[in-house]
Amino acid sequence: MIVAIDGPAASGKGTLAKRLAAHYGLPYLDTGMLYRGVARRMLDAGAPLDDAGAATEFAQAFTPGSDDDERLRGRDMGEAASIVAAHPPVREALLALQRAFARQPGGAVLDGRDIGTVICPDADIKLFITATPEVRAHRRALEFAARGEAVDEAAILAEIRQRDARDAQRAAAPLTMAADAVMLDTSGLDVAGVVAAALAIVEGKLR
Ligand code: DC
Repeated sequence: MIVAIDGPAASGKGTLAKRLAAHYGLPYLDTGMLYRGVARRMLDAGAPLDDAGAATEFAQAFTPGSDDDERLRGRDMGEAASIVAAHPPVREALLALQRAFARQPGGAVLDGRDIGTVICPDADIKLFITATPEVRAHRRALEFAARGEAVDEAAILAEIRQRDARDAQRAAAPLTMAADAVMLDTSGLDVAGVVAAALAIVEGKLR
């Protein structure tokens, strides 16, 4: 079973994807980490993120896995990843790796922006996870505060809106809901509520 989960930043898709993967015993790939990894290597090398040629070289040389840490998950790296991810050849360079992960025996859970539309158009289950920008900004603010980072919720909201716009308006594989995806708005739900709602959707599809 391939489960494709898409949605904007801080919609709760990562938490849900991990929970579904554990529930069904499937491997999980957070595809945002691939773009974050490429962005990080560019920043470390002093390469400008808007240089499509350089970004492509870094994406082609990219191997995932070795660097899952706080810096990669941080606020600045999400923004940097969004810039890098808008270059079509960068997406092309990371495509085969994602498809191979999805097509392993037994299936997989992947989350990102274009899983149901581009990476796994034939996924068995497609979920589009969303929440209002205000709710997402509030969740992010709580996360940053819990990590001891200074929090300006208005600034986080502005960043979220900017990232949504860039991810949804780019030409290559923009953030959009697949025609056959089911939308789940998590604005009024806690984690348990989101997981329960998603499991009901998946079980309904499998029946
Ligand atoms: O899911 P995330 O916040 O870790 O993703 C960071 C950025 O990477 C996101 O703003 C856009 C890009 N991204 C993408 O373009 N396609 C994906 N499948 C996953 C992430």
